[in-house]
Amino acid sequence: MVSTTPRNTGVEGVEGGVGLTALMVAAARAIETHRHDTLARDVYAEHFVLAAPASAGWPVRIQQVADGDANPLWGRFARYFGLRTRVLDDFLLRSVHTGSARQVVLFGAGLDSRAFRLDWPPGCVIFEIDREGVLAFKHKVLDGLSAAPKAARVPIPIDLRADWVGALADAGFDTAAPSVWLAEGLLFYLPTAAETYLIDTVDRLSTGGSALAFEVKLDKDLLEYRDSPLYTSTTQQIGIDLLNLFDREPRPDSAGDLASKGWSTSVHTPFDFTRHHGRGPLPEQNDALAGNRWVFANKPRP
Ligand SMILES: C[S@@+](CC[C@H](N)C(=O)[O-])C[C@H]1O[C@@H](n2cnc3c(N)ncnc32)[C@H](O)[C@@H]1O
Repeated sequence: MVSTTPRNTGVEGVEGGVGLTALMVAAARAIETHRHDTLARDVYAEHFVLAAPASAGWPVRIQQVADGDANPLWGRFARYFGLRTRVLDDFLLRSVHTGSARQVVLFGAGLDSRAFRLDWPPGCVIFEIDREGVLAFKHKVLDGLSAAPKAARVPIPIDLRADWVGALADAGFDTAAPSVWLAEGLLFYLPTAAETYLIDTVDRLSTGGSALAFEVKLDKDLLEYRDSPLYTSTTQQIGIDLLNLFDREPRPDSAGDLASKGWSTSVHTPFDFTRHHGRGPLPEQNDALAGNRWVFANKPRP
């Protein structure tokens, strides 16, 4: 168990608090899906958005946005999520297809539909950890679509500030076998102690041949970009004040911690992948994405 001071526990479902951010990312993926030059397709995304009263009026196509790509939220920020989805899809598929890991753990899985849309090798099991209300909403929508997962899927409804390790063990996670872990759009919502515990625990539960990807924000002061178009338009257009949801404690150096434990790590800006794919967000002035980093880590075999 981690002892923490919760910042964003007010609402436990998908309709408020940090759960609402899962709907925002789903809307971004819906928009990305319908782009002619899409980076990632998620046919389930728009169904989540339309099913929740809080988001039913949000756009699911860029054509529904009056100022289109010039809109900081539904243009640039949504494209950011599209790029992130693509890059982390590629990471997961590369990890399971080139290595022997067959267990995948998605922390703060939210409305991530990867279990349903990616081509997993035989024998894969996908553990999805998020809070109960978020997973219950997800299941209601997916059941309504008669969606069938493409791998064994094990939802684990638990708060990451509680004993998720015990819940993962109870769900059948095998510490003797290699694993692939993902914390996408999550760590900056967690208290520092919960992030440190998560990273240390992934190391402890991972055999050689395991891999982990996660997203962090390096900003020394998150409020530095409080007037950025990205944050202000998110608050004004859909009422999500991200800065209020982010944990404000100084962030740990999780990439450095893993490196000191013997993992090989690489740290990228999102813009590295924009250049690689030829589309996506590029740096700009007063940029809320300036401190975002995507970290990839591999634990060597003994
Ligand atoms: C921005 S969403 C990202 C969801 C998903 N990873 C994606 O990229 O589509 C953040 C998710 O983290 C989950 N989350 C935040 N704090 C959490 C906590 N303490 N325990 C479990 N889940 C948490 C939220 O419920 C939400 O689904």
